[in-house]
Amino acid sequence: MCGIVGYIGTRDAYPILINGLKRLEYRGYDSAGVALVTENGEINLYKCKGKVKNLEEFVSNSDLSGHVGIAHTRWATHGEPNDVNAHPHYSHSGSIAIIHNGIIENYAVLKEALMENGYEFKSDTDTEVLVNLIEYVRMTNNCSLLEAVQGALKQVIGAYAIAVVEKGNPKEIIAARQSSPLVVGIGKGEFFLASDASPLVEYTDKVVYIKNGEIALLNIDSPLKVVDFDNVESKVNVKKLEMSISQLEKGGYPHFMLKEINEQPKTITDCIRGRISPDSFEVKLSGIIDHADKFLNARRIVFVACGTSWHASLIGKRMIEEYCQIPVVVEYASEFRYSNPVICDKDIVIAVSQSGETADTLAAIELAKSKGAFVFGICNVIGSSIARETDSGVYLHVGPEIGVASTKAFTGQVTVMAMIALTVAKEKGTISEEKAVTIARDLYRLPKVLEKVLTLNNQIADFVKRFTYAKNFIYLGRGYNYPTALEGALKLKEISYIHAEGYPAAEMKHGPIALIDQDMPTVAIAVTDHVYEKVVSNIQEVKSRGGVVIAIVAEKDEIVSKMADFCIKVPSLSECLMPIVVAVPLQLFAYHIAVCKGLDVDQPRNLAKSVTVE
Ligand code: G6P
Repeated sequence: MCGIVGYIGTRDAYPILINGLKRLEYRGYDSAGVALVTENGEINLYKCKGKVKNLEEFVSNSDLSGHVGIAHTRWATHGEPNDVNAHPHYSHSGSIAIIHNGIIENYAVLKEALMENGYEFKSDTDTEVLVNLIEYVRMTNNCSLLEAVQGALKQVIGAYAIAVVEKGNPKEIIAARQSSPLVVGIGKGEFFLASDASPLVEYTDKVVYIKNGEIALLNIDSPLKVVDFDNVESKVNVKKLEMSISQLEKGGYPHFMLKEINEQPKTITDCIRGRISPDSFEVKLSGIIDHADKFLNARRIVFVACGTSWHASLIGKRMIEEYCQIPVVVEYASEFRYSNPVICDKDIVIAVSQSGETADTLAAIELAKSKGAFVFGICNVIGSSIARETDSGVYLHVGPEIGVASTKAFTGQVTVMAMIALTVAKEKGTISEEKAVTIARDLYRLPKVLEKVLTLNNQIADFVKRFTYAKNFIYLGRGYNYPTALEGALKLKEISYIHAEGYPAAEMKHGPIALIDQDMPTVAIAVTDHVYEKVVSNIQEVKSRGGVVIAIVAEKDEIVSKMADFCIKVPSLSECLMPIVVAVPLQLFAYHIAVCKGLDVDQPRNLAKSVTVE
């Protein structure tokens, strides 16, 4: 988490940095700051607690000149979110300023050693330790800033993307990465750097993804140079950026989340484009076909993921087990990485991540690889670390997701999982032609179906007003829609701060039923599937204990519609695709409750979209 941005060139750096920070605010918004290097090499550093707009107000009467600068938006790890702990941080003498995304794990030992050498610290951050270490190396060895960065990073254990500027040196920014993302944009006589490509998109489409253990030298008088910690130069691999500004703006919607919910018919179209034949309904994912032997001989598939991606994986598990007859387990990446999993070269590990940067998922991939597994990635962000670290994979192609609560990425992930299941099942011969065509045809119909589901917006916006009082919700679902219940509850928690629990409907009897009363509403998913009758009984159990039920049902439903207090009616598709259909009203439900409560939907408290620390 944390977003970093930098600029060096001939334009005024400040507006570029501020706009960049706004694009990266999804990565954290506890505090923000900027350091500008003036023509004569002075550094002006401004930082304060709160969001980027607070920083803009804070600096409104300050000297913002300079064509070189670095800036940061923070998600606090070490030290509370206040003005002092905000980045950039100065070194002890004030000669070097740094921004940092990540965690320096051995900061305590380094800090102690620096204190013994007379260094004093103003903040509680690990970052201030790093900038002082750079200064210490520079001074004791009388070396260049680059050599000092290299010397310091050799002593550091942890994850970082950093950028440093130095007093008296208005021609250079030095940036480095280890396990936190870093992209450099190349313009005409100018360079940009950022945690992802979104701050660069209006200036250049030429980007270089800096790799682990690499240092980028952004010097105004020279082409981009990339070296490692031992100064061995690597080839600069320039990529074309496929992203447009309109994808990064709200497009008339009050919030990114609402825009992204409404985009889903289009994002599903983009996700299936070229992968399902419109005539034969044959599904083909080249990332699978190219490694068909791995999938045909797989002993087991292990999904590793976090948050919403973990919920999508639970749905993927059901699909793959049902149609491919391969045993599947779903692991939280954060648990998997510290376990001793029984994995061998006959296993496939599928890492699922919207951002492609989640630290725990990356660590899980590393562990899986060390055990010989074939690692497959399902990511949204093109060129992200997970996409690069995996042996093969498939992109979601749903476009940048900016709202912190994941919406279109979830439906994209489930769509991709269905296409994976169909591709593998076809290769293995474990699905009938008829079934495969029915599901593929339904995938093809999904965008139209979602357009219809989105017309429920006003109905949902209206009836949620009655539920803003609630302190707790329970979400019930079974089969394919048990994970959808988990995801619905997560959406509500994330943006409305209402406690919500997702539960397999029948398990409710083993505990949560004790909580049911008129003050704790139940959201029940009761669409037409093979467990429908069972869910009906579960809803009955809630009703007979005085519970209020909001049910998501099929358009033709006659039973639950009579029992429930509120009904949301959705079209029916193949059972395995219903989580996609059901997810949309659940997203709208959470969205409208949060709006009614006057909360910051796109930037909910304490959360960050890209969790690059463990
Ligand atoms: C954070 C985000 C969630 C996301 C999770 C995993 O918690 O707020 O929306 O599901 O990280 O992120 P990933 O990018 O790996 O899918």
